[in-house]
Amino acid sequence: MTEMKEKQKKSITGEQLSLLEKTGFKEHTAEFFTEMQVYQAGIREIRTKLEILDEEFRIHHDHNPIHHIESRLKSPQSIIEKLVRRGREVNIESMRSELYDVAGVRVIVQYLDDVERVASLLLTQDDITLIKRSDYVTNPKESGYRSLHLVVEVPVFLAEGKKRVPVEIQIRSIAMDFWASLEHRLKYKQSEEVPLEIRERLRDCAERIAVIDREMQEIYRIIMEEGTL
Ligand code: GTP
Ligand code: MG
Repeated sequence: MTEMKEKQKKSITGEQLSLLEKTGFKEHTAEFFTEMQVYQAGIREIRTKLEILDEEFRIHHDHNPIHHIESRLKSPQSIIEKLVRRGREVNIESMRSELYDVAGVRVIVQYLDDVERVASLLLTQDDITLIKRSDYVTNPKESGYRSLHLVVEVPVFLAEGKKRVPVEIQIRSIAMDFWASLEHRLKYKQSEEVPLEIRERLRDCAERIAVIDREMQEIYRIIMEEGTL
């Protein structure tokens, strides 16, 4: 194993490493880290594209659609758990073919209309390929969850050539993010399934937040049209 691969190995905990070595990633941990580096590069490509689009939009329209961007690489533990849950072998091949959310980018936008605005600005770029689109803004999940999910493929340029990597992008307003973050934490705290009554109350919160989102969008539109902002 090269010195660089050793260094990559050190960037994760011993616990994560021993986890990998119990699975089909064993004997291939160096390849696993190289692959993770490619996914990380995919995240950077997407972030840069989004930052450029946001800045360009501000210059032309005096408005930043993006509030902020978050990103994460799926942990080895989550990768293994998801493959096991799906009854797949735990190895690099299944990770490549089965998981589209190893690289994840979350875009928090200001207003409701910015969700679609950011998505279409990104998708018109000719090096981006749309793999999957799930519109939970138009069709919220049973939980009340709202966000636009895109899985795109983006080229990453490496010494050995070009590689296309999938990146999952979640686009949501500040209001949708407020709900999703708190709801996620509440579910996480609960070891069993959340009782129906609580689920209904959470869904009700999501619906009220959606009303506020539309109202804020409308107020913004009125102020912009009157040219006072
Ligand atoms: P996963 O196995 O969870 O990745 O499901 P999937 O690949 O079918 O994708 P889906 O679009 O259902 O959800 C992917 C991600 O969206 C999750 O990992 C969460 O980050 C987010 N998400 C989906 N549903 C909910 C929800 O009800 N509440 C919250 N807080 N987040 C959700
Ligand atoms: Mg997912």
